[in-house]
Amino acid sequence: MRVTINKVKEMKQKGEKITMLTAYDYGTARIVDEAGIPLILVGDSLGMVMLGYESTIPVTMDEMLHHTKAVVRGTKQAMVIGDMPFMTYHISVEDALRNAARFIQEGGAQAIKLEGGVTVAEKVKRIVECGIPVMGHIGLTPQSIYQFGGFKAQGKTPEAAIRLLKDAQALEEAGAFSIVLETVPAPLAKLITQKIGIPTIGIGAGIGCDGQVQVINDMLGSFADFVPKHAKQYTKLTDIIKKAVTEYYDEVKAGSFPTDKQSFTMDESILAQLK
Ligand code: KIV
Repeated sequence: MRVTINKVKEMKQKGEKITMLTAYDYGTARIVDEAGIPLILVGDSLGMVMLGYESTIPVTMDEMLHHTKAVVRGTKQAMVIGDMPFMTYHISVEDALRNAARFIQEGGAQAIKLEGGVTVAEKVKRIVECGIPVMGHIGLTPQSIYQFGGFKAQGKTPEAAIRLLKDAQALEEAGAFSIVLETVPAPLAKLITQKIGIPTIGIGAGIGCDGQVQVINDMLGSFADFVPKHAKQYTKLTDIIKKAVTEYYDEVKAGSFPTDKQSFTMDESILAQLK
């Protein structure tokens, strides 16, 4: 049985910290699932860390679904959350419903995530009414970087802080089961967490959130372009991979790979007939 939204809400009530990680492929999702991470987000960050786009904006529904299906195939216990890409839920409620449904029906996800607060509350309400669990996402919402003027912390002025609190409350009222708080000052994230009944999942939002999320490539050190301030590298896969690839290159060049161990034999008599 996969993790349910009831379980996630219960974790907040019990004061149990919630962990979420992104995953974009079968193999990684399988490892994350087996490690017991309850929430796996197929984030539109895949556009940057997997596909090499400069931002998340070019990511399409088809790309998201392709990766969501792979992650679902690799998991047994985690709730898989599909991230609605840019402009797939902004134009109309109908659009938002159709695309949210695709994540569940075609992708096999158990929930969706979308960016925004008050402005998307009506869409969140309708998606939830249709039986699809929704995770909100406020603060530094990467699909709005052009509006923000870059990847900047949000909620630092009194007006912006009040706006974020109202966004969180609007999402809770609309029926979201949890909210990602991205790059929000830690004391504000803590206050929002205390003021709402649903769990907050922080990324660059301090220890006061009910849970934490990281982009897996950031924490594994497998994304070489940059390391965001909110990321902690638990290992540095780029170095490990580069060392292995260089060793392979050197061995092939030197004629020391493959050895008998990686080769197959055949009956000498058959070979003799060919000769
Ligand atoms: O796309 C993503 O990976 C995200 C997380 C950073 C929350 O939205």
